[in-house]
Amino acid sequence: MRRRQFLQTSLAAPAVLSTAPALRAQKNTPVKSKINIAVLGSGLRGQSHIDLMVRRDDCVVTAIADIDPEMVRRTKAIFEKQNKPLPTFYANGPKDYLNLLEKEDLDAVIIASPWRWHTPMAVAAMQAGLYVGTEVCGAFSIDECWELVRTHEATGSHLFFLENVCYRRDVMAVLNMVRQGMFGELLHLEGGYQHDLRNVKFNDGKQPYGGGVEFGPKAFHEARWRTAHSVHRNGDLYPTHGVGPVANYININRGNRFVGLTSMASKARGLHEYVVNHPQGGPGHPNAKVEFKLGDKVTTMLSTANGETVVLHHDTNLPRPYSLGFRVQGTKGLWMDVNSSLHIEGVSEAHRWEKTENYFEKYDHPLWQKMADRAVGAGHGGMDFFLVNAFVEAAKANATAPIDVYDAATWLAITPLSEQSVAQGGTLQTFPDFTNGRWMDRKVDFAMGEY
Ligand SMILES: NC(=O)c1ccc[n+]([C@@H]2O[C@H](COP(=O)([O-])OP(=O)(O)OC[C@H]3O[C@@H](n4cnc5c(N)ncnc54)[C@H](O)[C@@H]3O)[C@@H](O)[C@H]2O)c1
Repeated sequence: MRRRQFLQTSLAAPAVLSTAPALRAQKNTPVKSKINIAVLGSGLRGQSHIDLMVRRDDCVVTAIADIDPEMVRRTKAIFEKQNKPLPTFYANGPKDYLNLLEKEDLDAVIIASPWRWHTPMAVAAMQAGLYVGTEVCGAFSIDECWELVRTHEATGSHLFFLENVCYRRDVMAVLNMVRQGMFGELLHLEGGYQHDLRNVKFNDGKQPYGGGVEFGPKAFHEARWRTAHSVHRNGDLYPTHGVGPVANYININRGNRFVGLTSMASKARGLHEYVVNHPQGGPGHPNAKVEFKLGDKVTTMLSTANGETVVLHHDTNLPRPYSLGFRVQGTKGLWMDVNSSLHIEGVSEAHRWEKTENYFEKYDHPLWQKMADRAVGAGHGGMDFFLVNAFVEAAKANATAPIDVYDAATWLAITPLSEQSVAQGGTLQTFPDFTNGRWMDRKVDFAMGEY
């Protein structure tokens, strides 16, 4: 079916919630040896994906949509450096990606635009019949999460949620240990996004990190759009790096599900102080008058159908070394990633921590055992190689994504639920079931096979 016809047909289909199992689009189509991929939003994250993809011989990046001439220039340089043909660029305004989806002959698309564009782009790309990978964020509303699920169910197009931390080496070694029962029965888990982003949220418009105290149109990279969320919103705005691995440990949407959420936020001081104390800022700088709504430390607690508790941390505005703060605690041991600390009863010396790395040789996840050498040099300690590899392999097979639309909706929903809970002083929120009951018998997919 031609793409335009597909688009019209799928748009005409009633947007009702299907109770049928998730469609496996063109399940019996053969695995392709090479696919065409477009990237929507080729800022610094999109460029990292492109850089990994242009090195492969099983995919071609044929089209890119971006609205910023400087990002287009940087993106072109990646192709030139690798001696690869330039893709077609769609740089004619924020909706030019729709022309790209209509005109280009594509198999898949990666979305790495600012948060507000993820859902419209993912919906349009699924309606165009493409295999969709979308970068991480938090949703704006629960409706938006349902829209992703319903579009997938109506079109049969797959959505792969590109949560790279699920592929981190220690995260996967611990997953391997969890699946082998090393921690016993799991009871409590933690994770989060604890990353000092003050020098990302402000810059001088010329360099991405550290220079200046501007945000919005005068700035560059994420300071252009991300900082506005800290001005207007209060809640866990970036939950998926923490919740993704945690959800895999306790099989959320596959025999388990989140049932309740409560969230509280501290007061906001960090971003204001950064502007006031920065050499290019000061108390008289216009941005020193901005009132930031986002609490510097947002803490969210979730309960599950199977009786575990989960705590998520959001901490991006204060001086601190990076740590996602993972904790996996069961009846036989625990892992805490802050000091790379692990303890297994009967194996570790009583009451003593061991280094997580001690367990890599024996418990590295099979994917890391097989492909660690191919990941050398890839972003975020190599995990980005595993993510892009999984995306390309799954897209070539048009297979159900290992992190699928139900995971995306569930993890993204934490943000609006958290915002609502914070606004109500920590009131308990009921967690939607985006699988409509299918969580009870959906099978575990993530990293069970080739990806
Ligand atoms: N998984 C990770 O480790 C990781 C790391 C960094 C960023 N991210 C995520 O990736 C996404 C992009 O972040 P980034 O750091 O690359 O930001 P960025 O600002 O560097 O890039 C965003 C790009 O999107 C472009 N853009 C904006 N509106 C557009 C539109 N309507 N059509 C086409 N292009 C548009 C911008 O011009 C810019 O080049 C965000 O969701 C971010 O949270 C994920």
